[in-house]
Amino acid sequence: MRRRMAHYLLVLFAAAAAGSPARRSAVDLDATPRTTIAYNELADVPRFSSHALNYTTLLLEDEKGILYVGARGAIFSLNSSNIADGSQRKIQWEASPEKQTDCLQKGKNNKTECFNHVRLLQRLNSSHLYACGTYAFHPLCAAIDADKFTLPPHLEEGKEKCPYDPARGYTGLIVDGGLYTATRYEFRSLPDIRRNLHQRPLKTEESPVHWLNDAEFVASVLVRESVGSPVADDDKIYYFFMERAGEEGTAFEKTQVARVSRVCKNDLGGKKILQRKWTSFLKARLACYIPYYEVLRGVYSLDGGSWPSTVFYATFTLAAQWRSMEASAVCQYNISELQRAFEGPYMEYQDTTRKWTRYDGQVPDPRPGSCITDRSRENGYNSSQDLPNGVLDFVKQHPLMFEEVKPAWGEPLLVKKNVLYTALAADRALALDGRHYDVLFMGTGDGWLHKGVVIGSAVHIVEEMQVFWAPQPVESLVISKAQRSVYVGAASGVLQLPLASCARYGSCYDCILARDPYCAWDGAGCREVASAADRAQLTQDVRRGTEGCRNGSAQARPVQRNRTALRGDDVLLPCEQRSNLAQATWLVNGTGELADGQGGPFRVGVDGLLVTDAQPEHSGQYSCYGEEGGLRSPLADYALTVLPELPKEPAPTAPPRTARQASPDGKLVYISVIAVLAGLCLVLGAGLLHVSCLQRRKGRYVLDPRALPAELQTVSANHPGKGQEDGCLQIIPGEAPPAASPAREMPLAAPPPPPPPLPAEFTNGLSAALPNTLRKMNGARYVLLQQQEEPSTSSLHNTSFAQELSKILEKRKHTQLVEKLDESSV
Ligand SMILES: *[C@@H]1O[C@H](CO)[C@@H](O)[C@H](O)[C@H]1NC(C)=O
Ligand SMILES: *[C@@H]1O[C@H](CO)[C@@H](O)[C@H](O)[C@H]1NC(C)=O
Ligand SMILES: *[C@@H]1O[C@H](CO)[C@@H](O)[C@H](O)[C@H]1NC(C)=O
Ligand SMILES: *[C@@H]1O[C@H](CO)[C@@H](O)[C@H](O)[C@H]1NC(C)=O
Ligand SMILES: *[C@@H]1O[C@H](CO)[C@@H](O)[C@H](O)[C@H]1NC(C)=O
Ligand SMILES: *[C@@H]1O[C@H](CO)[C@@H](O)[C@H](O)[C@H]1NC(C)=O
Ligand SMILES: *[C@@H]1O[C@H](CO)[C@@H](O)[C@H](O)[C@H]1NC(C)=O
Repeated sequence: MRRRMAHYLLVLFAAAAAGSPARRSAVDLDATPRTTIAYNELADVPRFSSHALNYTTLLLEDEKGILYVGARGAIFSLNSSNIADGSQRKIQWEASPEKQTDCLQKGKNNKTECFNHVRLLQRLNSSHLYACGTYAFHPLCAAIDADKFTLPPHLEEGKEKCPYDPARGYTGLIVDGGLYTATRYEFRSLPDIRRNLHQRPLKTEESPVHWLNDAEFVASVLVRESVGSPVADDDKIYYFFMERAGEEGTAFEKTQVARVSRVCKNDLGGKKILQRKWTSFLKARLACYIPYYEVLRGVYSLDGGSWPSTVFYATFTLAAQWRSMEASAVCQYNISELQRAFEGPYMEYQDTTRKWTRYDGQVPDPRPGSCITDRSRENGYNSSQDLPNGVLDFVKQHPLMFEEVKPAWGEPLLVKKNVLYTALAADRALALDGRHYDVLFMGTGDGWLHKGVVIGSAVHIVEEMQVFWAPQPVESLVISKAQRSVYVGAASGVLQLPLASCARYGSCYDCILARDPYCAWDGAGCREVASAADRAQLTQDVRRGTEGCRNGSAQARPVQRNRTALRGDDVLLPCEQRSNLAQATWLVNGTGELADGQGGPFRVGVDGLLVTDAQPEHSGQYSCYGEEGGLRSPLADYALTVLPELPKEPAPTAPPRTARQASPDGKLVYISVIAVLAGLCLVLGAGLLHVSCLQRRKGRYVLDPRALPAELQTVSANHPGKGQEDGCLQIIPGEAPPAASPAREMPLAAPPPPPPPLPAEFTNGLSAALPNTLRKMNGARYVLLQQQEEPSTSSLHNTSFAQELSKILEKRKHTQLVEKLDESSV
């Protein structure tokens, strides 16, 4: 166990040493979440689950106080004020046994695919909801009376509205009675954006050019651009998706790019040309941090009360070329930037080169792809059916815009390594400084939720929360303003988290440093701004996160604790930093700050101070502080006494002083000491197991194979052939991903194209993924900081580090025993 732990640290350390710290990319926004909230700290948040699986489709009706949840084989109606209050209603909607048998005969997966996955849940009209399910590869839809909450006797055919495949990218909205869906519907059919439940159903065009190429849809957003429009513009629906790129100049052909497209709500299609097809379909490239981050995962829109202030937030993960690494980027887009692209030049398909290039010829009037406005009406075009053939022909052949949609600030707000953001939601909060701050909730691929606040052009991650115990992708996120909650949907259930848990911040400094726009300090505690009676009494500093606490006053001194050790022991003085951004500082005897890496017997770690080979002259007062944003809070005080030798006593394993003083009930003390010892061993063992397993759940670190001949892999316990029952991590020396080692390819196989150069942020291997000082990472209890007495470049040095560590761990057992006795004798 210990050995594996040492190995693990060895690899982390080796990785940290391998990189050249000087290289930094232009975008260096790898934010560390300020605090880490483990699963057990979220024990009292409402959770809902039943026998069903895949709670992926969420529909919140905030005014009614209902959260509808579409799952596998069921639809639920939950009370949004507390989804776990037991008042849920359920519609059982399983695929029929015949359809399941059909599905199995088609060779579909009986564990995931041959079920009724509810993929669409929307409000149809004031009395009815509309739902569609995959129904074991035979999609069906139903109008559901929301009050009765039962399935109607008659179900509708769903193949025009819902995908067959439960895992296929899909998005659907009901807007003014019309159902707008985008997906790849049937088996091997082309992707399509469709309108149904409307007197004029519409689709996208497939000839002479496909408007969509292998599109995988992510989200759709309605923007009511008709509201307050001086030209009587139309409402628009924006679609966010990925598709195969065909443009000239895209770095990697045939790879996916992210796109945004839009259609006009009052589009009726053309009369002869583009009959029953959109006349207003246009698409543009959605750039975030190209060419690396191309896989669009989640989109959310916010507006400040009127549509011109609409912003879109989108999360991206690495393009296929870099799938072996996990990283995410978050970008922000203003609606004006989308409009700029759609009003700019068009692209044209060149049959000879089979590429899309800029079109510089004549553009007919009215402008192809635009909605019908007053200007077109003045010219006699009252609807899309009146548009001249020239315009419709142009639309047919020019769906792609030349300009790409660039992110606000020109770059991502956030780039985060070792994390896959799979879902995103945003809320706009009014802070005490009178400004609005956007708060992003980002779900990860392994069941965590990150809460970040957008400050200028960057995101400060306030906290990371382990919302699901079993690692699983967060599938959907919805925010309720009325309940001040965020609902999180995933395979195993739904949970409801408060937008803010201000009471978690115990001091004024902690409250201010969190920079949470929902929270402020009122002199006695950290409170939610929205529920505070008197805002004038509150203190908050979202912009800098440092101002507002009267110095010293809010910081109570911790209780001093005594520690006794023997000469030669290694002593750990625990001091937990609440914040991952805080720097630990120790003072000895009120002076003499202990700095990292100064050598000698002191090692400053994130969870304590380690005194190696303690000597009697190391006795004294030790005070631990957390320093963050220039603010210093006292966290722990110790009086350390190092004895030159063990007080004379016969039994070496027995507790000397206690035994002597407590001679009348010596047996009792013996038993309790043995119990304490056993408990300690258990705790230590569990701690180590926890560290390695938690790390497995949380992040997967793959070293740059060119930098080191070792790859750190996660090995799942049930992985065949590599069965290490309790093992979570394994070092596989000399193994590199196949793409990076063409020498290992079969001689006859054509070598794959060399991977494109990595962005600078990745070339320095893991050191980029890890902070310079190894921190507490998601619960790892014990990590040394800046263990770099000598510049180590070869792995030989690291071996000695590992040996030293096992030695320390060995000795710690003894030290903790003495500590424990000390406390019990007080
Ligand atoms: C449904 O949940 C199961 C169990 O977690 C998972 O394996 C499967 O991929 C999920 N299916 C979909 C379509 O999300
Ligand atoms: C939800 O629960 C609250 C509190 O128990 C109750 O007041 C409210 O009426 C419930 N809402 C619905 C829709 O049942
Ligand atoms: C699914 O199929 C496998 C192999 O065909 C079979 O062993 C398993 O029992 C089936 N599971 C269910 C739930 O039908
Ligand atoms: C809502 O739609 C359903 C299904 O089409 C219909 O039966 C019902 O009458 C509609 N309700 C209203 C209030 O229009
Ligand atoms: C458009 O509407 C106007 C006013 O309703 C009408 O006079 C005109 O004839 C219509 N034009 C067409 C082409 O239908
Ligand atoms: C409090 O502030 C004063 C000056 O404003 C400074 O000299 C002093 O060191 C501060 N005390 C603490 C404990 O930070
Ligand atoms: C702290 O002070 C005590 C007594 O004043 C002294 O014996 C001890 O060596 C000091 N400790 C350190 C680490 O300097």
